[in-house]
Amino acid sequence: MITRRTIRIVATGRYDGQTEWYESFASNETMSSARAFAVALLGRGTGRCLDIGCGTGRALHLLAERGWRVVGTDVSADQLEVAGRRARDVAHLVRADAHTLPFVDSDFDAAISVFTHTDFDDLRAAFTEAFRVLRPGSRFVYLGVHPCFASPFVARAAAADVDDAVALLRPGYRQPGWKVLPPDPQSVKVRARVGINHLPLSNFLNAFIGAGFSISRVEEPGGDDPPLFLAVAAVKPNGPREPREHDQVGVEPDALHRLTVEPRQEQRTSPQPRGAAPGTSRRSCPT
Ligand SMILES: C[S@@+](CC[C@H](N)C(=O)[O-])C[C@H]1O[C@@H](n2cnc3c(N)ncnc32)[C@H](O)[C@@H]1O
Repeated sequence: MITRRTIRIVATGRYDGQTEWYESFASNETMSSARAFAVALLGRGTGRCLDIGCGTGRALHLLAERGWRVVGTDVSADQLEVAGRRARDVAHLVRADAHTLPFVDSDFDAAISVFTHTDFDDLRAAFTEAFRVLRPGSRFVYLGVHPCFASPFVARAAAADVDDAVALLRPGYRQPGWKVLPPDPQSVKVRARVGINHLPLSNFLNAFIGAGFSISRVEEPGGDDPPLFLAVAAVKPNGPREPREHDQVGVEPDALHRLTVEPRQEQRTSPQPRGAAPGTSRRSCPT
């Protein structure tokens, strides 16, 4: 059911005017099999399934083939127009911002989102909305580019010049946020078209946990080494949301990031007391 309260588009349709590029970019074999993998991970069902950030609708038929009654949602009118041509017969399409979905609580029996986490402004907010619109006990599957191995700071092609290297790392992994190149309508690079909102792995996984999901399975599909994609299957638990350990103790993520791991000091060997287990001494270890 669509509610009136949230029919407002907050995010910008960065993909408006980009559908020709996106269709050629998103139709390759690697991305198609990743999408099929995500749908297989979600599995079959007969209820209502929401595809969040459905784009040009490439997963909609796959979901319908597995029995779901499909609703696709995206913030970009242009992307939805292509999705409509592709899948109007199998899916209901709704233009909406993933951060403020126009659906009532517990409206869906499953949800999926593919290749979107680097497009959302606030992943935890988007996943919190996914959580809200899901019925307790239902599944959510996300598949996206691997936060560690498929980001702007990972150079794969450049590694060809280095013996035994498959990827080179540039600085930047720890800095979340938008990575953009000057807009260029001729470029095939995502950063020059729509930008990439990079998240380190910890932020990515904490977005599921913070939204309230229980992670049930994690996969790195595909033959690439290192992997290009990361897929997470999660469940909205039955019953009221329990406070997580970190909700209670109020751990400050910034404080954690400031912690450094000191290199181990060379330990002086002191005589072991008789009967002591190897590796234990009376002096307590500073670590
Ligand atoms: C990389 S495309 C992925 C599309 C599709 N899931 C696929 O597999 O091809 C990212 C999509 O997310 C949409 N998007 C970005 N921000 C959004 C938001 N805040 N709310 C809803 N959709 C959003 C974009 O318009 C775009 O269609």
